[in-house]
Amino acid sequence: MSLASPMFTLRDYDKRDFELLFKLDRLCFDPGIAYSRPELASFIEQRRAYTVVAEWTEPSAEALAEIDALDAPPSESALSASQPLVKTFLPKGQTRPPRRPIAGFVTFHFQRQGYGHIITIDVHPDARRHRLGTLLINAACEKLRKMTAFMVVLEVAVNNHGALAFYDRHGFKRIKVLERYYNRDVDAIFMTKRL
Ligand SMILES: CC(C)(COP(=O)(O)OP(=O)(O)OC[C@H]1O[C@@H](n2cnc3c(N)ncnc32)[C@H](O)[C@@H]1OP(=O)(O)O)[C@@H](O)C(=O)NCCC(=O)NCCS
Repeated sequence: MSLASPMFTLRDYDKRDFELLFKLDRLCFDPGIAYSRPELASFIEQRRAYTVVAEWTEPSAEALAEIDALDAPPSESALSASQPLVKTFLPKGQTRPPRRPIAGFVTFHFQRQGYGHIITIDVHPDARRHRLGTLLINAACEKLRKMTAFMVVLEVAVNNHGALAFYDRHGFKRIKVLERYYNRDVDAIFMTKRL
């Protein structure tokens, strides 16, 4: 898959993206709501899960520095940290094909009952209000439609006013409140949209 806008290009997820997606999720959500590494990995890797990644067509200097940092050898502290390093290192002399910085992603599942479930849409703060969220939700809905899904569902925190406005704008209906859905503390709103 490869869709494009003047600023962003969409493509399918590759395992090498994981560390940047994890960092982006941390940037997009409060610590109580952002996924842990194992949670995000299980959502991305489970059966019938799809992740569409958006690359910046023209990367910012900060985004390029972020990629350089990921390609650098691990520091002593990183090696001793308890979290596993997802990044893989190439043998000396071997060059990696160029990667563009990631501006956002969407992860969704196709449920056996015939509907889609949006797990998360993350747009880098510098990329917001440039229609990237719209590109990603449209790509997810298009893929789900092709898989014969009749509906798409999601949960969003009651205090995430930006995301609620975004989903309202995209025709999602607010169905019910899921009490203490996040961290057994923050309520969520369950939203659905017919495809
Ligand atoms: C919600 C999110 C995905 C929107 O992405 P985006 O690329 O900024 O969205 P778009 O530019 O496509 O916005 C389309 C429309 O949605 C509405 N919208 C989007 N963000 C909004 C905000 N913060 N406040 C009010 N309306 C908003 C607007 O109507 C907007 O159109 P406009 O810019 O012409 O006014 C992004 O803000 C984000 O990643 N937030 C953090 C993570 C998150 O909350 N994800 C969703 C929960 S699962």
